Amino acid sequence: MSSIDSSINYGTDSMAWVRALSHASDAELYALIQTPMYDAMLFRHADAVRRIYYGTDVYIRGLIEFTNYCRNDCYYCGIRRSNGMVHRYRLTKAEILTCCKDGYALGFRTFVLQGGEDMAYTDKTLCEIVSTIREHFPNCTITLSLGERTRESYRLLYRAGANRYLLRHETADDAHYRRLHPKEMSLAHRKSCLFQLKEIGYQVGAGFLVGSPFQTAKELVSDLRFLQQLQPDMIGIGPFIPHSNTPFRDYSGGSLILTLRMLAILRLMFPYVLLPATTALGTIHPQGRELGLKVGANVVMPNLSPTGVQRKYELYDNKICTGEESAQCRSCLEQRVEAAGYHVVTDVGDMRRRKLTK
Ligand code: 5AD
Ligand code: FES
Repeated sequence: MSSIDSSINYGTDSMAWVRALSHASDAELYALIQTPMYDAMLFRHADAVRRIYYGTDVYIRGLIEFTNYCRNDCYYCGIRRSNGMVHRYRLTKAEILTCCKDGYALGFRTFVLQGGEDMAYTDKTLCEIVSTIREHFPNCTITLSLGERTRESYRLLYRAGANRYLLRHETADDAHYRRLHPKEMSLAHRKSCLFQLKEIGYQVGAGFLVGSPFQTAKELVSDLRFLQQLQPDMIGIGPFIPHSNTPFRDYSGGSLILTLRMLAILRLMFPYVLLPATTALGTIHPQGRELGLKVGANVVMPNLSPTGVQRKYELYDNKICTGEESAQCRSCLEQRVEAAGYHVVTDVGDMRRRKLTK
């Protein structure tokens, strides 16, 4: 152990940490993931690096959860197909557009359309939704998070006006992936979707669960290695939180400290990346999102879905910010961000990566 510990000695310059982590060995990553002793240093340098790349800017995205129907049956997820207790809903194009209008008035310039894998939304329907949003809000970014679809579907949606796509890989270890998902799902397919999206021209977000059942440091190192390969523009991570009506109801959830540690490592390994302080993080600790911002996160994603459906999009138990008016949620978050020492910015000026890496 002592030989591993002594390997983490990157000095006091934060950019030296960035350089060191871009070449870190597995042993170094294990040490950072498993040793609480490094936390103080890790967190300090992660915040310093986010300030170098992004100042105190925090980007705000309006999340529209437009369907909770899902064909998948992931063992961890509350809206899995086998959960018969969920009140299922679908938003119409008009309802989605209303969310965008409300959001626009509140200053949102990025809309994230997220849903289960609901094939009732055909390519044609989705393209109509996307192109209508694009027409109404030409200066906004449209992010999709619709799970696995065909390359053709991704291509049509991009052509209709979508800019970004979020698709968490959940875990990059094949055996672990199989323990979290039924056999009709595969990590290879998930990864191929991510590479296709990138090839088509989307800005791509991947990400993983922290503290999911059976996860060890080994799986987390695989996640970091996969992300190094993919080089995504966004990385979404959050603690696993058990849902009472899933096969994983009796497993313990991911911890705050491990989630913060992973956020900090991600900021140092991918200094340019857009990294949300997620709702799941805010759910396991009352100051979870603020703590996330302080260790490198730079995005928050409040809910813009109609108040009546928010509680129905229950991926895990006790999800926060459900049933809030979007205006209330936005001002609450804005206050939280300010109190943590950062500033919400509402424009689309989040393309630092290109500038800094030129
Ligand atoms: N706890 C935390 N996050 C979850 N997700 C799904 N179920 C849970 C859970 N029980 C996450 C997955 C998915 C995202 C939309 O929500 O990572 O990609
Ligand atoms: Fe939604 Fe606070 S962020 S109510």
